Amino acid sequence: MKLDQTTGIKQGLTNYGDPEFSIYIRKAFAKAIGYTDDELNRPIVGIVNTFSGFNSCHQNFSDLIEALKRGILSQGALPIEFPTISLGETFTSPTTMMFRNLMAMDTEEMIRAQPMDGVVLLGGCDKTVPAQLMGALSADKPAICLVAGPMITGDYQGKRLGACTDCRRFWREYRAGQMDDEQMELINSRLCSSTGTCMVMGTASTMAALAEAMGMMLPGGAAIPAVMADRRRHAEATGRAVVAAIQKDLSPSRVLSKHSFENAIRVLMAIGGSTNAIIHLTAIAKRIGIQLTLADFDRIGDQTPVLVNLKPSGKYYMEDLAKSGGIPTVMKELEASLHCQATTINGKTLGENLMEVPSPPEWQDVIKTRNDPLLEEKGLTCLFGNLAPNGAIIKRSAASPHLLQHRGPALVFTSIEDLHNRIDHPDLNVTNDHVIVLQNAGPVGGPGMPEAGYLPIPKKLLRAGIKDMVRISDARMSGTAFGTVVLHISPEAAVGGPLAAVRDGDLIELDVNNKSVQLLVDDNELGKRMDNITPPKPHFQRGYGVLYTNHVEQAHLGCDFDFL
Ligand code: FES
Repeated sequence: MKLDQTTGIKQGLTNYGDPEFSIYIRKAFAKAIGYTDDELNRPIVGIVNTFSGFNSCHQNFSDLIEALKRGILSQGALPIEFPTISLGETFTSPTTMMFRNLMAMDTEEMIRAQPMDGVVLLGGCDKTVPAQLMGALSADKPAICLVAGPMITGDYQGKRLGACTDCRRFWREYRAGQMDDEQMELINSRLCSSTGTCMVMGTASTMAALAEAMGMMLPGGAAIPAVMADRRRHAEATGRAVVAAIQKDLSPSRVLSKHSFENAIRVLMAIGGSTNAIIHLTAIAKRIGIQLTLADFDRIGDQTPVLVNLKPSGKYYMEDLAKSGGIPTVMKELEASLHCQATTINGKTLGENLMEVPSPPEWQDVIKTRNDPLLEEKGLTCLFGNLAPNGAIIKRSAASPHLLQHRGPALVFTSIEDLHNRIDHPDLNVTNDHVIVLQNAGPVGGPGMPEAGYLPIPKKLLRAGIKDMVRISDARMSGTAFGTVVLHISPEAAVGGPLAAVRDGDLIELDVNNKSVQLLVDDNELGKRMDNITPPKPHFQRGYGVLYTNHVEQAHLGCDFDFL
């Protein structure tokens, strides 16, 4: 690769009014780091290091960076790591989703502003992979994803434990009075038994799988556990691959097409992936001018059974998926319905990559076949109706079959605070027929569209043995959660969507087979209520919160900022 003023250390000069001086002074400061002239004449690979003491999922990054650097150096390039924002899911208030776009902006601008010829996106926890992809697609330099990898499972009384489907299951049992404090403390110390991302098919596992499916990660990279030697070998291979991608000028706009995203959607459906992925994929695709609509997800979902037997839809964990062949084996089983001409970051087409992959081995029960799927019906269903004019989502594979068609009276909570204050009150007028409705928990109302959509079952019903109810909101839900939960209602209540007009006792009808969620209130009455909706007070008066509130788009558009 020939270095000129558009490549290597000489690109993107700091403006001192004299380009030759800018190169001279930059080299002088680079020498302060200890680099030699030989090193400074090489192509540069940036490594986005999102290690943080506030991100438990990214604690293996120093090992991965060491392996990455071996791979990059072996191909004659110079690796330079740099930090961006890191978003640790359980350490960030009010919710990481509010900062996904900030991280995307940070990633994009730092790739653009600093002298690098390509970049490795080192992420993992839920919002980090979509944020990095959004930023890298906009920057459009050769980029490749490397993720932390999933945690390995823990153990409690001989049973495997995984974050965070089992966190929620045990919490529900605790609320129902079936577990005591001592048991809960013991489980608490075993739910997350290593570094790495949540080891069920939650959002982190899903987004890693989709990065691989769309061709932005080397084959096999999504499922290898964080602590396995294979993950380090994969990191080393990623280092070699990014240099090759630079030499072939494989920038994201040359790798990705609508077909790449359709492949990702098909994999999303086959793995029973997280509802959050619909928002993230839509936002990522928009960064290179590709419009994905809920109709795209719905159409592909209709043709794709759930094949992967992982929690929360099934029973296994990511380490089992890795042992069974990982995402390449899932894609092999889907091969006939994938766009095999799609380009991938290793320069081969998807079809060429899949030539080396065997079909799902018979000895395992983790990756099912199309002839014997885990679920015939699709995992995620898009819903429409007068309650969600621009759509809503339900994770059908994690819902209770007897509630997929349900009509019941609404029990309305006007905010997350209202929900917390009243849900467990002994006098709450609620039966298992009720539909619990949460308003003002969307992108603007939440704020940040928190994962509050997994509304708790009232304690008095839990203690009576009720495990699931229909729940509806404009919030999101963790990919690790389960239940008959309608999410992402768009437009949200806080911007005047019909969800804001629901009142206690109104009948709501959910009909998942017919993709419908309806408020059974006549149009005149609904119109009158809509005219009288009072928007909630804004959450922010200054800073990023104001920028976020004024520019975040609704869920069906991906919740990106309207100016990005
Ligand atoms: Fe990071 Fe679950 S908390 S992936």
